[in-house]
Amino acid sequence: MSDYDAIVIGGGEAGISAALRATQLGARVCMINREAELGGGCVRTGTLPSKILSNAAHFLENLKQGKRYGVPVVPEARADYKTILDSRHKTTMCEFGVLATLIRKNAIATMTGMASFKGPRAIEVRLPDGATTVLGAPKTIIATGSRPIALPGLPYDGKVILSADDLTIMDAVPRRLLVIGAGVIGCEMAFIFRSLGSDVVVVEKADRALIGQDHDVAALITREFKKRGIRLVLKAGVERADKDPAGGPVRAAIEGGETIEADRIIVGVGRRPNTEELGLATAGITPGPRGELQVDDRMRTSVPGIYAAGDVLARFMLSSMAVVEARIAAENALGLDVRMDYTCAPWGIYTDPEVGSVGVTEEWARTGGAEIVIGECGYNDLVRSCLDANVTGFFKLIFDAASRRLIGAHVAGQDASEIIHFAALAVKMGAKAEDLRNMVYNHPTVSEGFGKAAVDALKKLEQRTSS
Ligand code: NAI
Repeated sequence: MSDYDAIVIGGGEAGISAALRATQLGARVCMINREAELGGGCVRTGTLPSKILSNAAHFLENLKQGKRYGVPVVPEARADYKTILDSRHKTTMCEFGVLATLIRKNAIATMTGMASFKGPRAIEVRLPDGATTVLGAPKTIIATGSRPIALPGLPYDGKVILSADDLTIMDAVPRRLLVIGAGVIGCEMAFIFRSLGSDVVVVEKADRALIGQDHDVAALITREFKKRGIRLVLKAGVERADKDPAGGPVRAAIEGGETIEADRIIVGVGRRPNTEELGLATAGITPGPRGELQVDDRMRTSVPGIYAAGDVLARFMLSSMAVVEARIAAENALGLDVRMDYTCAPWGIYTDPEVGSVGVTEEWARTGGAEIVIGECGYNDLVRSCLDANVTGFFKLIFDAASRRLIGAHVAGQDASEIIHFAALAVKMGAKAEDLRNMVYNHPTVSEGFGKAAVDALKKLEQRTSS
């Protein structure tokens, strides 16, 4: 007889979501987590804690608006990094408490330790005191998350060369910050630390920032870098970083011959799934080339009874996506038949301005041969943005020309990560340009940009038919 109906390995957002759903469906569940506190990267190091930093950065930027209302602006206002970290710590502790209560109320068994397969139906747990125990269950859901990739020659040292997961290690805002990688993490960190007072240089191997995002979004963020005095060096990797044993600045050698001096380096060159210690071979699972678990749209691995969700799939590495993948995994594990649909899953990037996107980018659509029409509206066309003196940004809606359905939306500007959900629902429901135009929008709001961009698309569609 099995000890449990389902074992969930990993107690991050994905693991918790899977355990809760499986329990709701009547299963006896045990969730095994490496750390005693639940919440994983989202709560401990990444998604939530980084928002405290971006809140502080936004607050400082908003202070500059004071002069519009006659509020004296303190020149060179600075935030205290240790106070920000205290605030971050309190939020994390609060969320740990919320999650622990949720798990207790749902009577989910938890175990702290490192889990590894001893066969497809048996999991060994190495407990913190070194003892081991073996649990059996017909179903297992793997949700072990990811960790930052380290660059060869630049290992994380917990002092000078850091990942975005290590920001609590710093005791002050660095005077000079070098960010390696202009992906999502690199761009978010660049804006945050610039607002907090650092001189920031971002070095990116590729020929543009935010690869994978729409090119207009990347272009806007690049322009904002420039406006804010953030230097972006493209087509260049960091070859070497020489640290000063006396604690002076680190000297990073950049491809092309330049040397950049910095007080701290934050590396954001992607994340790697945590699968090495799972004993996957014992279960009969072969991970992909990056160590990722491969699953079908029901979140099933190649071994019956074993499912996976979240960062361990190395797909989107977003906690929002992980939670849904995990729910789908649990439902299929417990006998339902549900499929994951990524087509209407939104992204939120917490740069300044924010980015919200859903569906196809212009490049994907054109590469796939789709006939598309793009409707656009600038934030400077919106009364709300003018009132708020926040006119940087745009709406870019991508419609399939034949059906007039919305297939992609990219918003860069104020509140983009919030309002993008409207477009996500529109994509999911197959809304047409007319539907977006005919909506009544609160006035004045930034959401009106969706209606104006839809009007622009309809005008272009009419021009096509009449020419
Ligand atoms: P990423 O894959 O988004 O970007 C990494 C960047 O580093 C790429 O542009 C790549 O060309 C560059 N790079 C790689 N090697 C380099 C080198 N040697 N020198 C210079 N540049 C180099 O990875 P990132 O930003 O670390 O994020 C990890 C994951 O976490 C991503 O999947 C991301 O989507 C997710 N994430 C999402 C957030 C959000 O949606 N708000 C926030 C934080 C993370």
